[in-house]
Amino acid sequence: MNSWQTVLVALTIPQVVSGLDNGIGLKPHMGWSSWNVAQCDAASAKYALATADKFISLGLRDLGYEYINIDDCWSTKSRDSAGRLVPDPAKWPNGIKAVTDRIHSMGLKFGLYGCAGDKTCAGYPGNEGHERSDVAQLVSWGVDFWKYDNCYTPCRQNPRPQTCTSPAGTTKTWYAPMRDAILGVQNTKKLHFNLCNWGRDEVWTWGASYGHSWRMSVDNWGDWASVERIGSAAAGIHQYSGPGGFNDLDMLYLGSSKLNVNQERLHFGLWAITKSPLVLGLDLDKISNSTLTIVRNKGLIDINQDSLGKAATTFRPPGAAAPVGGKIYPYWAGPLSDGVVIGLCAGTSAGTYSVNFKDVPGLGGSGAYAWKEMYTGQTGNGASVSFSIDLHDMRVIKVTKAAQNKEKALF
Ligand code: GAL
Repeated sequence: MNSWQTVLVALTIPQVVSGLDNGIGLKPHMGWSSWNVAQCDAASAKYALATADKFISLGLRDLGYEYINIDDCWSTKSRDSAGRLVPDPAKWPNGIKAVTDRIHSMGLKFGLYGCAGDKTCAGYPGNEGHERSDVAQLVSWGVDFWKYDNCYTPCRQNPRPQTCTSPAGTTKTWYAPMRDAILGVQNTKKLHFNLCNWGRDEVWTWGASYGHSWRMSVDNWGDWASVERIGSAAAGIHQYSGPGGFNDLDMLYLGSSKLNVNQERLHFGLWAITKSPLVLGLDLDKISNSTLTIVRNKGLIDINQDSLGKAATTFRPPGAAAPVGGKIYPYWAGPLSDGVVIGLCAGTSAGTYSVNFKDVPGLGGSGAYAWKEMYTGQTGNGASVSFSIDLHDMRVIKVTKAAQNKEKALF
């Protein structure tokens, strides 16, 4: 190709930012998923519709919670004679389209779950070898979101185990055909593609070319150890998150009684500032007032949904101890379109946590700052903040230049 031909090609081919740049997923997705609620038993129309009603009655839809996602076990155990997936009639008495239509009419979106192997993790039909026809089926049902798991995938072990420890290739190999099938229908339907390869093959380094969000770890089991394991790992990979492709720290496992209220605040706050999708993994019929207060925190949601889409990470103020692997570091910060967010985490000990704004990446220099703390609602002006924080609790502070603040009356 000569140089003129190269210019011509460059002018005529639309700019593709990533392999799956279909214009959606520009902010971390928000919603609910059935898996932590009652595993296979929650993969039903009954749960999907009841949750959609709750999104409205609890004011969650108006705060941005949008996707009602059904996880593993929604189909029958085998395909029909034409090779199609069959929604389990006991769980979907009127089929799936009736549910997506109803959910769409409520201003919400609907997600389903599939798997790159020959079976899903719970042993239902996988999508391997059926990618294009299965995506056509999803489109015909009006499905908006597709989570794609990593069980029973090509493996050197024979027969393939549920979770392969000796994979026959990189996970990219079996995520590509589904990505391509989704790209193939994008003129008809733009599907959000959520990669669930449990952080294998450093998915954060290539996930944006394959999907809109990617699980960067094995499951959140709902305990404090999971919050520590996943939350601490988010610090090292913040640079890979951005509009169109976000690290997915897994569902928000609140309301299960495995975490106390401090731990729930830290869990939600850390997921919010690291720009993880905010996907509730709990039964909204049973949500407590204290959990509801946390998940309805508009200030935190706005930080998560900020148009800049940059994830916060740790920083080390002068005199602070170095981070310890696997533990939640106290000091976090990240840029926002109109300021900076600081997270203070009492991940390992209760105490007074203080920061001078001059030590915070993105603030520095001189100037007066205004701040607001998102859990207590406290506001102030000045050059520093200081909070006494109970064990495993968190404070999230949004900082803006005081002058800008006056004009925009942000707080
Ligand atoms: C796991 C996945 C979970 C859930 C489960 C369903 O592999 O990480 O989020 O989807 O499978 O079987």
